[in-house]
Amino acid sequence: MPPTAGRRSDFPALRRRRGRSPVHYLDSACMSLVPTPVLRAMEEYYRYYPGCAGRSLHRFSEEVSHRIEAAREGFARFLGTRDPASIVFVRNATEAINLVGRGLSLRRGDRVLVSDQEHNSNLVLWQRLRAERGVGLDVLALPDDGSFDLAALEAALARGVTLVSLFHTSNLDGRSLPVREIVERAHAHGARVLLDGCQAAPHVPVDLARIGADFYALSAHKMLGPTGTGVLAAAPGALDGLAPLIVGGETVEWTTLTDHALRPPPHRFEAGLQNYAGVLGAHAALGYLEAAGRDTLAAHDRRLNERASAALRENDRVHVIGPAEPAARPSILAFTLDGVDPNDAALFLDAGYGVLVRSGRHCVHSWYDRRGLTGNVRASFYLYNDATDVDALVRGVDELLTRTDRPPGPARPAERRAARATRPRRRR
Ligand SMILES: Cc1ncc(COP(=O)(O)O)c(C=O)c1O
Repeated sequence: MPPTAGRRSDFPALRRRRGRSPVHYLDSACMSLVPTPVLRAMEEYYRYYPGCAGRSLHRFSEEVSHRIEAAREGFARFLGTRDPASIVFVRNATEAINLVGRGLSLRRGDRVLVSDQEHNSNLVLWQRLRAERGVGLDVLALPDDGSFDLAALEAALARGVTLVSLFHTSNLDGRSLPVREIVERAHAHGARVLLDGCQAAPHVPVDLARIGADFYALSAHKMLGPTGTGVLAAAPGALDGLAPLIVGGETVEWTTLTDHALRPPPHRFEAGLQNYAGVLGAHAALGYLEAAGRDTLAAHDRRLNERASAALRENDRVHVIGPAEPAARPSILAFTLDGVDPNDAALFLDAGYGVLVRSGRHCVHSWYDRRGLTGNVRASFYLYNDATDVDALVRGVDELLTRTDRPPGPARPAERRAARATRPRRRR
């Protein structure tokens, strides 16, 4: 296996040490690390051309305007939309989803279809629209093994759906949905499709022209970019019928005291002074990912996940969530540990092994409630990870399990206290 798909030395956060040991960062599904070229691009904006795009006529303003439009072109190419005007810069995927949900002006009689495994960012909005406007909300149950039931989708679509809003790759178990087929079937029933690409765009090539989705949302901070920067990408013409989420400066051609004319998309959706440094950093992140090669990246994630899954499964107290095969969930390894609360496991792994993972319910609360789980541990892989990160995770989990008793079911309060009291052997 090549050690990593990206150079570890490009990521300053990986230079942090616990004593003489490295940090093993396995939480990229929450927030990826930022490489030096991205940090540099953001700093250069403030250092060398800190202007307002599209406002002043001086050279700083001209330069930032030019670079922001280049970033738009970069995202259009990266996502296969081909048209830069179909790229809207927003704060994050949550804002992109809200822009679509509110912008479509859905009302009573419209129905939105989501899965039972959506991030809260693709759920709460629809619940609000149901309460505020009487918009219908249908939920498609996803089988635990990672398969997708096209007949169930057909049945749901046949009941009349205005918008299908689904993840492309799940943040909970790393499965991906057959998005092209879903879009085809939804369109055949006259429904539009919004895909939450937060966990897919960082890892796999996304060709929106091929997938055919009407809208695609992502956050740059999961793909080597800065926080507070996201994208809504749209199919040709799909932005035209969308009302802006917020309005003000930058969104208008002209105003009088009583009226205004909105600019064409995408500018009508980018109200107020924008996060230029963030957009330029996100653009630099695309360059880094393209240089690494997204096919290489996906294969790299999968190999690490295979190594981790095989090693953890040797212990029968480890239960992997989602598809059995790592190839079907390459960037994510989610698991529960018999007798150990997931949050205690995460604290133990950090304190004892410098292994940074996510624990809890991953913003998909109802999925855990339905299964009586308090949550799970999630390790996620990215281009700067290598086998040493995987092996540290496995050693940490092994030690944790040897120090806690095997209970018959999910962790009980007394066991949680026991796990908390357990001190990792190697603390620095
Ligand atoms: C699948 C998925 N959707 C949506 C989000 C929300 O992203 P953000 O908080 O950047 O808007 C996340 C973040 O973890 C996610 O993993």
